[in-house]
Amino acid sequence: MGAKHYYIETYGCQMNVADSELVNAILAERGYERVENAEDADAILMNTCSVRENAETRIYGRIGAFKPMKRATATVVGVLGCMAERLRDELVERHGVDVVVGPDEYRRLPDYLEAAFRGEKAVGVKLSRTETYEDLAPLRENGVSAWIPIARGCDRFCSYCVVPYTRGRERSRSFTSILEEAKELARSGYREITLLGQNVNAYAEGGADFADLLAACADVAPPLRVRFATSHPSDFSERILQTIAERRNVCAYLHLPVQSGSNRVLELMNRGYTIERYLDIVDRARELSPDIAITTDVIAGFPTETEEDHRATLEVFRRVRYDGAYMFRYSPRPESKAARMDDDVPEETKKRRLQEIIDLQRTLSEENNRAWIGAERAVLVEGASKKSDERLSGRTDDNKLVVFPKPSNVAAGDYVLLRITDATSATLFGEGARKIEAEAAFREDGSAKRRAI
Ligand code: SAH
Ligand code: SF4
Ligand code: F3S
Repeated sequence: MGAKHYYIETYGCQMNVADSELVNAILAERGYERVENAEDADAILMNTCSVRENAETRIYGRIGAFKPMKRATATVVGVLGCMAERLRDELVERHGVDVVVGPDEYRRLPDYLEAAFRGEKAVGVKLSRTETYEDLAPLRENGVSAWIPIARGCDRFCSYCVVPYTRGRERSRSFTSILEEAKELARSGYREITLLGQNVNAYAEGGADFADLLAACADVAPPLRVRFATSHPSDFSERILQTIAERRNVCAYLHLPVQSGSNRVLELMNRGYTIERYLDIVDRARELSPDIAITTDVIAGFPTETEEDHRATLEVFRRVRYDGAYMFRYSPRPESKAARMDDDVPEETKKRRLQEIIDLQRTLSEENNRAWIGAERAVLVEGASKKSDERLSGRTDDNKLVVFPKPSNVAAGDYVLLRITDATSATLFGEGARKIEAEAAFREDGSAKRRAI
């Protein structure tokens, strides 16, 4: 019998993207070959997300779509990731899934698949206090930008959130294994790394904290640009902001989820900070790095949220003038503490409040982006733009997507300097791109100031 073929789809956060790269490495090691069409696969895998109900509904739709393929061949259907952890046997019993493997059991995925090929149902959902997969080299695809998970799990227990239940206890990877990986990525031509964790600020290993790790990663592989996500405002330190300001290859970009602008709601969410403390971090970040881009996550319609609470959220958006936001309607998650509260904000009200936040943010994003028109910006090229091969796209240090006409000598992984000529709420447009060295691209000095708005 030849090699087994598998097909994989990835949903949810960047941690799942990074986990799929581990799964790809684990399966390749055991002789599996990946295929691009589910029809050609012996195993169809979905790496899934449970964070909101509609994320799960979407997966049920996919499982249904794969069923006919299953009948036609001896195909095995597997659910990995957070839904596997949350729903376990239910996926087998009610949805006809053959293999269910949670985020801490990927090393055994090949064994579970073997069992399923023999006709057994396989469920592996043990969580671990120690598993970090730090000895495994992920199988990465994109040769420009790499995710490096630095910690797994989450101990914050925000009251609305399922992640502590699906990902288990927080554990940090060893400092040296992270630095080695960064060095290796720089050697093999990568240009950018993003340090990943549900709460990177909680990183702690052998006396080192996140600011130490960030600085060390920036210093160990200077041709690399360094990003990180996600920051929790409660574990935030002044030294992290100083590291961003001092290291030219640490990107001037902060994803700092606020969730609500109301102290009463923040308390019910168990977020552990007040809005005043949150705004202090924002102000200090801008004091140290004036053009730092700040993005956020927000939830509309948390239980008991009043119009006044909602207006407080809008007010924070106006005050911070975010560069971007991931905006969600509250969705009760059965395991979480908030699920025991009365989900008393009517759906219509949640929708309307969410829409008001979205509309405001679109205006802010557009104004912030348009303020860059006329400026020269350095861009790390990621590849052809979505709409045309004649145009390239890439990102600035502060994580803005820039689309521009392709000069003949420029390819993915190059840095270019260009002039911003137009902007929408989602994209900057540039012209006159010319190739520059990475070193010249880091934190372009005075020329990059946005216009006052
Ligand atoms: N660890 C990260 C993000 C985890 S989930 C952090 O703490 O920032 C990503 C986002 O999904 C959260 O920031 C939150 O805004 C949203 N989210 C999580 N649970 C939710 C729920 N039950 N309903 C609606 N949105 C939720
Ligand atoms: Fe969920 Fe809060 Fe942990 Fe983020 S910090 S993963 S929102 S519990
Ligand atoms: Fe979703 Fe799990 Fe990530 S619930 S957001 S895939 S940690």
